[in-house]
Amino acid sequence: MLNNKKIILGVCGGIAAYKAIELLRLLTKAGAEVHVIMTRAAREFITPLTFQTLSSNPVHTELFNLIAEQEIGHISLADRADLFIVAPATANVIGKIAAGIADDILTTTVMATKAPVLFAPAMNVNMFTNPIYQENEQKLRRLGYLFEAPVSGTLACGWEGAGKLAAPEAIFESAVTALTKKTLTGLRLLITAGPTREEIDPVRYISNHSSGKMGYALARAARRRGAQVLLISGPTALTAPGGVTVVNVTTAGEMQREVMARVAGCDAVIKAAAVADYRPLVRNSVKIKKKADSVTMELVKNPDILAGLGGMERRPFLVGFAAETDALSANAEKKLSEKNLDMIVANDVTLTDAGFNVDTNRALLLFRDGSCSECGLMSKEQLAGTILDHLAQHLAER
Ligand code: CTP
Repeated sequence: MLNNKKIILGVCGGIAAYKAIELLRLLTKAGAEVHVIMTRAAREFITPLTFQTLSSNPVHTELFNLIAEQEIGHISLADRADLFIVAPATANVIGKIAAGIADDILTTTVMATKAPVLFAPAMNVNMFTNPIYQENEQKLRRLGYLFEAPVSGTLACGWEGAGKLAAPEAIFESAVTALTKKTLTGLRLLITAGPTREEIDPVRYISNHSSGKMGYALARAARRRGAQVLLISGPTALTAPGGVTVVNVTTAGEMQREVMARVAGCDAVIKAAAVADYRPLVRNSVKIKKKADSVTMELVKNPDILAGLGGMERRPFLVGFAAETDALSANAEKKLSEKNLDMIVANDVTLTDAGFNVDTNRALLLFRDGSCSECGLMSKEQLAGTILDHLAQHLAER
């Protein structure tokens, strides 16, 4: 995801400095080349050796290192970076940068870079709410610097409140967003995800194996590309992606109501949800007791939400999914035309590395104009990116 990206990770002196290790791990795991800069205060908390070992690169601590380089080290570092992250960022360093002071390698390199800079502040709550700090942050925001806001909790100093460094995963997500080309800016996307559940009685339901991973990956990837995302989700165990509006539903009926109530103004709808096709005709209000040796239950068809969208007079760009166990291409083509879609993502759910409840997928993308594109084994995250690249291209041509 971050292959070929060069990131500078600036670490300031604060108790949260140890969390920068986890952030570094996330960045390198995603393929980024990371160069760490540590302030003198940061080295009071952690040794450079830890960052050097995990980044496989020397750690920069001095402004002038005349032995190591012929070029001016901090300038070449600043020039090569795709992104600069400062985590944790102390009030002191943010204040210095806001004031234009460049008196060590970190502040000088921030000043010299043309790359986007993302600050993840961490400090005592009273320092955080101090108008001096707030003014510095606002000034930097106005100038285009990015911030991953600290969270509330018990702070190292014993105080309760805002000032705790954001989770490494949240800083990582902001970093990926900062590095993602904004191909969907200004567009509103409605994405459905997960299974639906149709209750039989208060303890039992009909559902399917959908985990929601594909739909959530799409929502996250769309957000990173600058789209405004509304995620209508059936029951899943997943954490909602940051910056995405989530509406939780349980049944197909609820999903249909939410989709139809919110589709107006959307540029595209991606229906990744595995909607239960049938529901029990009668939902028992009390638990059905096991008396008979066999039971027969009458099921009635649920509304087809996607077909309903396809029948709209002024409809958004429609992307459907086809979960198939056989005749993948033929079944998907049939759904594409019968539901009046622009694009369909077909996957064979009998494969062990594709479809329900796994992190990878293989898909066949079919388009309204008869063209198709085959996506071999890849992560759902990567497939989400590929689907959105096609979507962006088709929306631009519309
Ligand atoms: N879909 C929907 N509403 C339904 C059933 C399906 O909106 N009641 C959508 C799904 O979200 C998916 C597409 O239609 O984008 C195809 O779903 P799929 O389960 O593959 O096919 P079905 O249309 O249900 O047909 P079948 O079960 O016969 O394969």
